[in-house]
Amino acid sequence: MKAVILVGGKGTRMRPLTCSIPKVVVPVLNRPLLEHTLRSLGRQGIGDIVLAVGYLPEVVQERIGDGSQLGIRITYVIEQEPLGTSGAVKNAQKYLDEPFFVFNGDMLTGIDLTAMMEAHRKVKPKVTMALIPVDNPTIYGVVETNKPGMITRFVEKPTWDQVTTNMINAGIYIVEPEVLRLIPAGVFSMFEHNVFPKLLEMGEPLLAYPSDAYWIDVGAPDKYLKANLDLLRQRPREIQREGVSEIHPEARIEPPVLIGDGCFISARAHIVGPVVLGQGCRVLEDAGLEGSVLWDGVDVWNNTVMKGCVIASQTVVEEDCRLEECVTGHHVVIGREVEEFGARIPPHSYVAPRGAKTPPPPPSSCPT
Ligand code: GDD
Ligand code: MG
Repeated sequence: MKAVILVGGKGTRMRPLTCSIPKVVVPVLNRPLLEHTLRSLGRQGIGDIVLAVGYLPEVVQERIGDGSQLGIRITYVIEQEPLGTSGAVKNAQKYLDEPFFVFNGDMLTGIDLTAMMEAHRKVKPKVTMALIPVDNPTIYGVVETNKPGMITRFVEKPTWDQVTTNMINAGIYIVEPEVLRLIPAGVFSMFEHNVFPKLLEMGEPLLAYPSDAYWIDVGAPDKYLKANLDLLRQRPREIQREGVSEIHPEARIEPPVLIGDGCFISARAHIVGPVVLGQGCRVLEDAGLEGSVLWDGVDVWNNTVMKGCVIASQTVVEEDCRLEECVTGHHVVIGREVEEFGARIPPHSYVAPRGAKTPPPPPSSCPT
């Protein structure tokens, strides 16, 4: 079976984590987000994959490779300009001659794809779409269905008064190749705004495939943190070491914790899982970490405490800091000086890169 994975967005809502890397390669349990999806597809017999890449394609290619290590085959189709979700699939048309899957590249899910394909083959619609229940449908595409399970209405990013159901588009479709004829080549277009509404208008059958499997759109830092912690909680009793680390016998580590290669954890450091440490992190004496994700090369100095934080790579949090629900970019230094200037780092704050002379910029000011 074949799949196209959409890897085009700039990940604006994930800033500052995505200032220099695309969203699909942010590390989830120390592996690129997309690698989790690729492994899951491989396990379910979907081994022929087209990556439709728009933003920083060379970074995606370097981190993901050709799939041979995962036992799958990856073909890259690169957009010079963003073509939108359906425009990007049209751009890969020459690889698509049988019913194929389309995936948004920014989610993690346990939806059963084999059963979804069986449902598609049985009913023979033009498109089958996986649906998932959520608490807040307004940030997704809401999908109304009828009794036999066919889609009757699709509203992308509805306002609350347009919300009639909590079932939303999970960003997984099975598409018949003939649908590609409806999509203009080389022109920006979206499944959500153009193709699905048009198919409904034409009276074409669109099948819903509702599921209550695990599903998360890793679209913003809070979701990113949740995805990491959810996956770690699946192994509640594990302290997993990925390589050789130096851990002082007086360090207290409560599972679930994932420790990347080459970490250094000092005496009386206290790590309360779920916590992820990337490669080469240092947690010094009396430092405390809880419910947090640290990328590679993060330094946490003495007596610093952090809870619910995402700290991007090569960042230093100096001694005696208290951080709660903070998200930092790469190469940041956080220290007491910051507090001395009266600039406490509030929850959900974004911290400026090292050397920035101006106050911390809002997330939208990072380079694109
Ligand atoms: N190649 C390519 N080119 N990919 C694109 C482009 C493009 O121009 N634009 C977006 N994508 C990719 C993104 O990289 C992402 O993987 C996927 O398409 C969806 O884009 P998002 O920007 O993450 O959309 P969203 O999360 O707001 O909404 C979409 O996903 C929801 C589920 O998470 C919609 O499909 C909603 O209907 C859906 O509910
Ligand atoms: Mg998304």
